[in-house]
Amino acid sequence: MTSALRGAFLSYTGNPFKDVAENTYRYESDGLIVIADGKITYAGAYEANRVPAGVTLEHHRDGLIIPGFIDAHVHYPQMPMVGAYGKKLLEWLDKYVFVTEQRYRDKTFARQVAKVFLREQIKAGVTTPITYATVHPEAVDAYFEEAELLGLRTGTGKVLMNRNAPEGLRDTTQTGYDQSKALAEKWHHRGRFFYVVTPRFAPTSTPDQLEAAGALFKEIPGAYMQTHISENTDELKWVQELFPDNKNYLDVYDHFGLVGPRALFGHGVHLVEAEWQRLAEAGATIVHCPTSNLFLGSGLFNLERALVSANPVRTALGSDIGAGTSFSPLVTLNEAYKVAQLRNFPLSAHQAFYLATLGSARAIYQDQHIGSIEAGKDADLTVLDFLATPLLAERESYARSLDERLFILMTLGDDRAIKATYVAGRKVHTRD
Ligand code: GUN
Ligand code: ZN
Repeated sequence: MTSALRGAFLSYTGNPFKDVAENTYRYESDGLIVIADGKITYAGAYEANRVPAGVTLEHHRDGLIIPGFIDAHVHYPQMPMVGAYGKKLLEWLDKYVFVTEQRYRDKTFARQVAKVFLREQIKAGVTTPITYATVHPEAVDAYFEEAELLGLRTGTGKVLMNRNAPEGLRDTTQTGYDQSKALAEKWHHRGRFFYVVTPRFAPTSTPDQLEAAGALFKEIPGAYMQTHISENTDELKWVQELFPDNKNYLDVYDHFGLVGPRALFGHGVHLVEAEWQRLAEAGATIVHCPTSNLFLGSGLFNLERALVSANPVRTALGSDIGAGTSFSPLVTLNEAYKVAQLRNFPLSAHQAFYLATLGSARAIYQDQHIGSIEAGKDADLTVLDFLATPLLAERESYARSLDERLFILMTLGDDRAIKATYVAGRKVHTRD
């Protein structure tokens, strides 16, 4: 099937954390994107004769087409408890998360939540979420079954957790291994899916289980691994008590073969320089989750160390719902800006939009497929509306440049500013 979109588009070609912004993007004020079989076949200036015969052209006037956003760290099962009051990480897990997650042994419930969750993601302009399921294999099946209806490029995995959690949320080293293996056989590389080996974090797995996670990560070709690291200072102390022989938090994961390309570590708020160095050298990824780090009072992520230092670390952006408080990457960027401000690093609009698109795609080793608008890439696209609300329209009328307009959008915008979302060329969301 062939289709075509006309309108302004923006797509990064370089890295605005390294180079002058002006040299790192392509902006077409009147662009044309031709799509066939889910992929972009042409992206450039609009020329009438480039529109294939018989194809209806969809014209997005006053919008800006960008690559679909990536949410590289999120927990779909936590949507029913997002915005839970008053606790920091460890108490918050006990009091809210571990109560809610027990409900996912019920597959019907899991399907229903996954459906609403994915609706919210595409409404916010996200086309690639990388999500945690729960310890229940049913929760993984439910997610992929819903994602398949939308044709998303996405990944999830069964949470591995065999200690320090309620009985209803514990597996064993053996069942955790076997179930992960079976789920990966079913879902990994089916369509655009990938399986993510998912040890929750070091405190909820025995060394034995972390070793099994390392084996799975190695045995499933192209699999991802996701976990949490260095989010909260009480968590850090706990990890030191549980693993006294390791040099630092990352070293625990490293010891079990969990640090390398396609290993995604959420948070990393309190990393020490030796950990940053090792992440960089190993090609592993940190996922920055600003709304979550603020909501749980976890701390201020060092984005400058991550991306502007001599030894940068692959860094992606995540909502971390349900500790995070918004599905909208625009809101996440707004909070990322404020966190960076508190660390005297003024994140620019181009850096921010790069981070949520091509930057995250590169960080998670998916940039051969997604993250930019160019021939050969998946047609996962989001249409932004600069004039989405009366306030945005008013404020934008005073803006003079593209970066100013983008910055206003990430400061005042949210899912109302997402006019449409396309997944593999198919329109799966229209706001109006
Ligand atoms: N650390 C371990 N599990 C979790 C979780 O579910 N959310 C967050 N934010 N941190 C965690
Ligand atoms: Zn998380």
